[in-house]
Amino acid sequence: MRAAYASSFDADNPLAALSVGDRPEPTHPDDDWVTVQVQASSLNHHDLWSLRGVGLSSDQLPMTLGCDAVGTDPDGNEVVIYPVVPTPGDPRGVSILSEHFPGTFAERVAVPRMNLLPLPTGLSVTDAACLPTSWLTAWRMLTTKGRVDEGESVLVQGAGGGVATAAVALGVALGKRVYATSRDAAKRERITELGATALEPGARLPERVDVVIETVGAATFDHSLKSAAPMGRIVVSGATAGHEPKVNLRRVFAMQLEILGTSMGTPDELTELLAFCAERDVHPVIDSVMPFSRIEEAFARLHSGEVFGKVVIDHTA
Ligand SMILES: NC(=O)c1ccc[n+]([C@@H]2O[C@H](COP(=O)([O-])OP(=O)(O)OC[C@H]3O[C@@H](n4cnc5c(N)ncnc54)[C@H](OP(=O)(O)O)[C@@H]3O)[C@@H](O)[C@H]2O)c1
Repeated sequence: MRAAYASSFDADNPLAALSVGDRPEPTHPDDDWVTVQVQASSLNHHDLWSLRGVGLSSDQLPMTLGCDAVGTDPDGNEVVIYPVVPTPGDPRGVSILSEHFPGTFAERVAVPRMNLLPLPTGLSVTDAACLPTSWLTAWRMLTTKGRVDEGESVLVQGAGGGVATAAVALGVALGKRVYATSRDAAKRERITELGATALEPGARLPERVDVVIETVGAATFDHSLKSAAPMGRIVVSGATAGHEPKVNLRRVFAMQLEILGTSMGTPDELTELLAFCAERDVHPVIDSVMPFSRIEEAFARLHSGEVFGKVVIDHTA
């Protein structure tokens, strides 16, 4: 079957490590695994990290990429795949599809049956294919970890990314005051259209915020610390621009800030997010939808940093 996979690693030019071609049909490591026919998937920065060799070792190559997907289960039901799978031997006890087990950028993917969630009525296949990784991460950052409450405000750094656009859209849908930074004027305009106040990176905010959504890292972390209100929560799920920022500890203890790490979310949180989007008519921010035959172009688009929202792959085209 056709698939997009890492055939090598290239830290400087991850696109050079991407191959598209034939891969064997999925196998089932356990009796409770099933094969899903993929209808749509979406790209995440995680896929570029994998091509750079972050989180994978060369003995795992070739590895089919992709974390997100919606498809059809063996009984013909439309399902959303929860991408975190039990993984004995991994120190976390789990892994994300494409780390130990082949991912979703293929005609078919194998997953434990318990990882299948019904596609809610009112949510399109394309929209749902955006939710299981970056949108789930943003949902958990705002709710479970950030504990964003009535009347509170949120700052989202680097608002063009998948997690960041999700946090802006969800923050607005939850009724919060949302501020978001982007280096790019056109992206700042798009952020305003989503209902947030757009700012240049490092700009002074009209108020200190209760929750900061951090996925950029070194380039924005000092601004995140300065922008947080007393008792504020800075929730970190990524470090696209460097994972070793300088941290002013005086500010952390004087303002009693919480710096909280998080990764993905639980199946219950994904169920909540699917229901929230379906019931509240919230649509993921989609940068582009491309057929599987153009998946290399889709990777190049994500790598260019010009995306605003999710890049979706249509596996039926
Ligand atoms: N832990 C998890 O569960 C989880 C899940 C999903 C993603 N992640 C991680 O979260 C991070 C974000 O991923 P993503 O796919 O949402 O988006 P992304 O494509 O990595 O982009 C994030 C944003 O970072 C900003 N940025 C990039 N380089 C920058 C720089 N040098 N200076 C300032 N800003 C910069 C850009 O914002 P502007 O262009 O708007 O300024 C960009 O839109 C990644 O590191 C990813 O691995 C983690």
